[in-house]
Amino acid sequence: MPQSQFHSNLDREFGAVREHWSPRVVAEANGQYVKVAKVKGEFVWHTHSDEDELFLVRKGRLTIRYRDRADVVLEEGDFHVVPRGVEHMTAADEECWVVLFEPAATKHTGDTVSAITKPIEDQRAHLR
Ligand code: NI
Repeated sequence: MPQSQFHSNLDREFGAVREHWSPRVVAEANGQYVKVAKVKGEFVWHTHSDEDELFLVRKGRLTIRYRDRADVVLEEGDFHVVPRGVEHMTAADEECWVVLFEPAATKHTGDTVSAITKPIEDQRAHLR
């Protein structure tokens, strides 16, 4: 990605997302990826041992469930950081548009491998 000339629009990037639970890398800065994803239903329980994960809701409502603490419900414009090493699961009754900020090395479903897992190559496929 030619970072020096890179310019896009958040909702245009969301417009290019066709599948639920399929993050799209839209920018890279300082080893961090910014991704957009449309989610609906329940994701899988997982943990990222070494990465914090920031969720920002663009549209809809996202619930982040934890095993060991209260759920967090994010409305449009709300954001939340899932700390590294903490098991979590995301869920949305209706389609929700989410922006994610995470280190480039972060795996989609953390230490869990599932049929839903999207490898980073797929998340970046449109950039080639
Ligand atoms: Ni996660």
